[in-house]
Amino acid sequence: MAKILVLHGPNLNLLGTREPEIYGSATLDDINHMLKARAEETGLGIDFLQSNHEGVLVDAIQQARGKYDYIIFNAAAFTHYSIALRDAIAAVDVPVIEVHISNVHKREEFRHQSVLAPVALGQICGLGVASYLAALEAIIYRLNH
Ligand code: DQA
Repeated sequence: MAKILVLHGPNLNLLGTREPEIYGSATLDDINHMLKARAEETGLGIDFLQSNHEGVLVDAIQQARGKYDYIIFNAAAFTHYSIALRDAIAAVDVPVIEVHISNVHKREEFRHQSVLAPVALGQICGLGVASYLAALEAIIYRLNH
């Protein structure tokens, strides 16, 4: 059975109440339940981790090696400056799909850069919580083709 790890970075634990005009009203639990339901429907294993701490996310990426087939990663603010997360992604052979709820390219300039994108398989942003679902659908497609 293929296994997917979903990683959520800092402040995403506040989804639902955090700047709802940008991030919408779904909570992190809502997102995880939605992904779990779709993964189970297609016979995939899926695990979730949210952390506000860069090192915890680095550890999770390192430990994903040999255990997970794909990582769906919303690194939140770390996306824009964490070389440690970029290096962790580059160090392991687990493909990472970078996701963002908001369209980072039409927000502040500091959000336009992703230091993770060059080492990610791809990037999906701006679709609201459906960005996560689009990443999962892409994985399902790739596993079957
Ligand atoms: C985010 C976009 C980031 O710029 C921001 O720091 C976040 C959330 C998104 O999902 O739209 O915390 O990753």
